[in-house]
Amino acid sequence: MAVPLLDLRNQHDAMADELRGVFESTLRSGRFILGPVVEKFEADLAAYCSTRHALGVSSGTDALLLAMMAMEIGPGDEVITTPFTFFATAGCIARLGAKPVFVDIDPATFNIDPRLIEKAITPRTKAIMPVHLFGLSAEMRPIMEIASRRGLWVIEDAAQAIGARDGDAVVGSIGDVGCLSFYPSKNLSAMGDAGAVTTTDAALHARMKMLRLHGEETKYHHTYVGGNFRIDALQAGFLGAKLPRLDAWAERRRENAGRYDKLLVGTPLVTPAWNAPGKHHVVNQYTLRVPGGKRDALRQHLVSKQIGCEVYYPVPLHVQKCFAYLGYKAGDFPHSERAAAEVLSVPIYPELTAGQQEEVAGAIREFYQL
Ligand SMILES: Cc1ncc(COP(=O)(O)O)c(C=O)c1O
Repeated sequence: MAVPLLDLRNQHDAMADELRGVFESTLRSGRFILGPVVEKFEADLAAYCSTRHALGVSSGTDALLLAMMAMEIGPGDEVITTPFTFFATAGCIARLGAKPVFVDIDPATFNIDPRLIEKAITPRTKAIMPVHLFGLSAEMRPIMEIASRRGLWVIEDAAQAIGARDGDAVVGSIGDVGCLSFYPSKNLSAMGDAGAVTTTDAALHARMKMLRLHGEETKYHHTYVGGNFRIDALQAGFLGAKLPRLDAWAERRRENAGRYDKLLVGTPLVTPAWNAPGKHHVVNQYTLRVPGGKRDALRQHLVSKQIGCEVYYPVPLHVQKCFAYLGYKAGDFPHSERAAAEVLSVPIYPELTAGQQEEVAGAIREFYQL
C-alpha cells in the first residue's frame, strides 16, 4: 500500500461544504484582497496566538521580510539564526542586505542552541531569529533573556509551529514578532501561498500594516517603501474555517507520533523528542535520525515501496552556494551538518490511519531485516 507524505483530501472532504461556502461568498462579495474576511481571520488568529495583533500576508517568507523591514534591519546589520532550517529564514535576512550569522543547533531538539548565541553577538547584531523547527518551540526563555539584556529584537520563525507552546507561552507571542506560514504542508494550510505576522507591539503592527501595502499611510501617500505582501480574502476565508479545528488536528499528529514511537521500537532509528516536558510540540514533521550513514539507503527503500518521505533539510544554510560570501565552511556547525546527513521525515498528517503507519513502520523494519 502506497502512503503519501501528505494528503489533504480527507481534511478537505470533511469540511467541503464549509470551504465551498467560503468560495461562493467570496465570489459574490467581489472583495478578493484584504477586507472584512481577512480582518475576521486576523482577529481570530491573534486570539489563537495570544497576541494583540495579527496581519495576514502573502507567505511565510514575506512575513519574515515584513517583520525585519518594520525593524529597519538592513545593510550593516547582523541577525543571528540557525543554519538548520528552511532557506527562507536566512534568505530574508540576506535579501534586506543584512548578514545572517549562524549559530549551531542543539542536537536533541534540532533548534538553535541558546548557550551559543551570546558568543555570536557583535555591535552590529540587531536581532535573533529562532526557528521552531518541525513544530517544537525553541528554548525561548534564555533567548528572551539574552535579547532583553543585549537590546536585540526577537523574530520567531514559527512557520512550522502554529499552536506550539514553550511552557504556557504560545509561539508567535514570545518574541517581538511571530512569523507564520500557511503553505499547504503546514499544520494550518491554505490552498496556495499565505502567511501571517503576529505581535503585541502596537508600533510594529502599525508599521507592518503599512509596509504590507507599499508603505501607505493613507491611499497614495507613502510613509515607507513597502511592498505587496497582502493575503487573499479567499485564503483568509479558508484559513478562518480551518482554525477552530487546528488543535484537534495537532492532537491527531501527536497521537500519530506516539504510535510511530511504539512501532519503531527495536530499530536503530532515533525518534524525535515530541513529548519533552515543558513543551507542547505540534509535530508538523515527525523527523527520525538514521544513524550509521544509512539515511539515503533507507530513503530509497521507502521510495521503492511508495512510502512518502523527505529530507528536511539536506544542506545546512552555511554551506549553500549563495552564502559562500559569508565565509563559512563545512565543519563550522557540526550538529547542523550531522542532522542534515541523518534526518528523514515520514508521513504524520492528522488523517493518516493506523494502518498506513503500520505500513510505513513495516517498510522500515523490512529495511533493517527485523
Ligand atoms: C522554517 C520556515 N521558515 C519560513 C518558511 C517560508 O514560508 P512560505 O513557504 O510560506 O513562504 C517556511 C515554509 O516553507 C519554513 O518552514
